Amino acid sequence: MQANNEAKKRIFSGIQPSGILTLGNYIGALRSWVQLQEEAEPLYCVVDLHALTVRQDPAALRRRCTDTLALLLALGLDPKKNILYCQSHVSGHSELSWLLGCFTYMGELSRMTQFKDKAQRHADNINAGLFTYPVLMAADILLYQTDLVPIGADQKQHLELTRDIAIRFNNLYGDVFTVPEAYIPKVGARIMSITDPTRKMSKSDEEASYIAILDEPEVIRRKLKRAVTDSEAAVYFDPEKKPGVSNLMSILYALTGENLEAIANRFQGKGYGDLKTEVADACVAALSPVQAEYKRIQADKAYLEQVMADGAQRASRLAFKTLSKVHKKLGLAPYKL
Ligand code: TRP
Repeated sequence: MQANNEAKKRIFSGIQPSGILTLGNYIGALRSWVQLQEEAEPLYCVVDLHALTVRQDPAALRRRCTDTLALLLALGLDPKKNILYCQSHVSGHSELSWLLGCFTYMGELSRMTQFKDKAQRHADNINAGLFTYPVLMAADILLYQTDLVPIGADQKQHLELTRDIAIRFNNLYGDVFTVPEAYIPKVGARIMSITDPTRKMSKSDEEASYIAILDEPEVIRRKLKRAVTDSEAAVYFDPEKKPGVSNLMSILYALTGENLEAIANRFQGKGYGDLKTEVADACVAALSPVQAEYKRIQADKAYLEQVMADGAQRASRLAFKTLSKVHKKLGLAPYKL
């Protein structure tokens, strides 16, 4: 390791093993992670324990964990420069989660909007794990003395809670945890749903509303053909008045770098059909190489297993340091393995 590594910021993020990542995730976050790996040694954890807060089919969950990892690799994340692993492979996550749970108040957890949402959507299964989900997330982050956490806006409240827990613990026991901050990439337009462009693109909505990174070219073209626009038949950027067209322009800009004014000029006198075709071409051009790489990596089970094992081992080493410190501070009896 270079000597200046100490000054580098620790980056951690968790990814749900939902198996679907969207064009919005790609433009807003994932593609910038490839740059981050040059600046630090980020950890990206597939959060299979978090996934258990709603009922899962075991075989599907198992498959989606490795698929998610394969996708991260296909996006260009180098397993030497990043620590890529599954949450359940590093027991420190669950362990710290218990310890931090003793420093988190019921009132705080009751106020989490995601809990309230999910409790409503899964009214038949409001389990304790769903309630303490944010504590496990705090453990994920604090376990690695994380400085920066790449997250979407929907996770900001959880990160605030993580900071509160860290500060509370530090006030009681001295400087144990680094207090993390949210990392929001500088560029990266907010990509909206293509069927309802007033809402953010989300994999939880109907399939026609998002482009998945792994959507086949024909699927991408078909979805974009049906993208909601307006009846004015003029291409210019105005997210208020023309959310659909503006969203298509944003996607084109994000993928090709051509600025919005240039796009508007170029499409003068042309229809929305042409715009949609170009956006589809740009999506296919950006995503095809990722998809090809994904297929290649996914077929190489031995490689995937090795990446996962190596990641878990490196993460465990870092986790152990924090946990030892926490045990000592809390007064848990010392032990030798
Ligand atoms: N809760 C996050 C989500 O739903 C996933 C997550 C789990 C996470 N642990 C994390 C994100 C730690 C950042 C840091 O997207």
